[in-house]
Amino acid sequence: MGRLQGKIAVITGAADGIGHAITAAMASEGAHVFASDIDDQKGQAFVAELTAKGLAADYVHCDVAVEDDIRKLVDTAVAKGGRLDVLVNNAAIAIGGMPIHTMTDAQWHRLIEVNLTSVFRGCKFALPHMIHQRSGSIINMASAQGHIGLDGWTAYAGAKGAVLSMTRQMAVEFGPHNVRINSISPGTIATTMNDQVIAEQGDHIARAWVKMHPIGRIGKPAEIAEAAVYLASDAAGFTTGTDLRVDGGLTAAPRFVPDLV
Ligand SMILES: NC(=O)c1ccc[n+]([C@@H]2O[C@H](COP(=O)([O-])OP(=O)(O)OC[C@H]3O[C@@H](n4cnc5c(N)ncnc54)[C@H](O)[C@@H]3O)[C@@H](O)[C@H]2O)c1
Repeated sequence: MGRLQGKIAVITGAADGIGHAITAAMASEGAHVFASDIDDQKGQAFVAELTAKGLAADYVHCDVAVEDDIRKLVDTAVAKGGRLDVLVNNAAIAIGGMPIHTMTDAQWHRLIEVNLTSVFRGCKFALPHMIHQRSGSIINMASAQGHIGLDGWTAYAGAKGAVLSMTRQMAVEFGPHNVRINSISPGTIATTMNDQVIAEQGDHIARAWVKMHPIGRIGKPAEIAEAAVYLASDAAGFTTGTDLRVDGGLTAAPRFVPDLV
């Protein structure tokens, strides 16, 4: 029996990268996954792959910058699945690599809307169901950038820092309802998001990332998915308000990175 057998799980930003890996892992552990994204073509093709393997999966369009999309995503999962056990607030965008004083207000607002307000909205719509059931696990995708500094990423780090403190706050508030709320802080993971950063900043950044991680490499999406499966599972029944750093040691110690100076 899978570690998430019979659970109803909603994942945002599921068509690619970390969200894709989490969705695949949760489905193969027995969850009925409701995968959502703005890239409908990729999302639908992914869900078709899962169902072809006999796994329980649905695709729902959801732009996390649109309140009504998140409401519909949660409503669809509850209507089809009868309950909501897991919400993974994963979708985010990378706007950065620039000194904060050169960031426009439009860039700031877009980043906060997609990376932070989305977490508020996901929780807002999921919590009533989880409180009613007296069970549930919310997993918010934070980042190593919520813990340490890196030139050019102040706004992104601000959003992720807020995700970390909101996670702790909600864990305290909803623990009495048996709703667990945790976050994951990945180090640098090989995804499209980082391919985009390399394209914008150059190959030297990829070499620097490897040196920044004491373990000597960047991470794989499946390594974050494993942490998400644990936090979603009953094995984590006493785990709430925590941040699981899956970062190859990135945040454990300051590192001298010659390529960055
Ligand atoms: N990749 C990393 O190194 C890294 C490190 C730390 C934290 N994270 C976090 O992990 C999460 C996933 O990152 P990733 O690297 O897999 O990103 P990615 O860019 O590879 O994939 C993101 C997915 O989200 C979707 N998406 C983008 N905007 C959306 C929106 N408005 N609504 C719904 N879906 C949207 C994209 O279509 C894509 O499928 C993010 O929260 C990110 O901040 C990533």
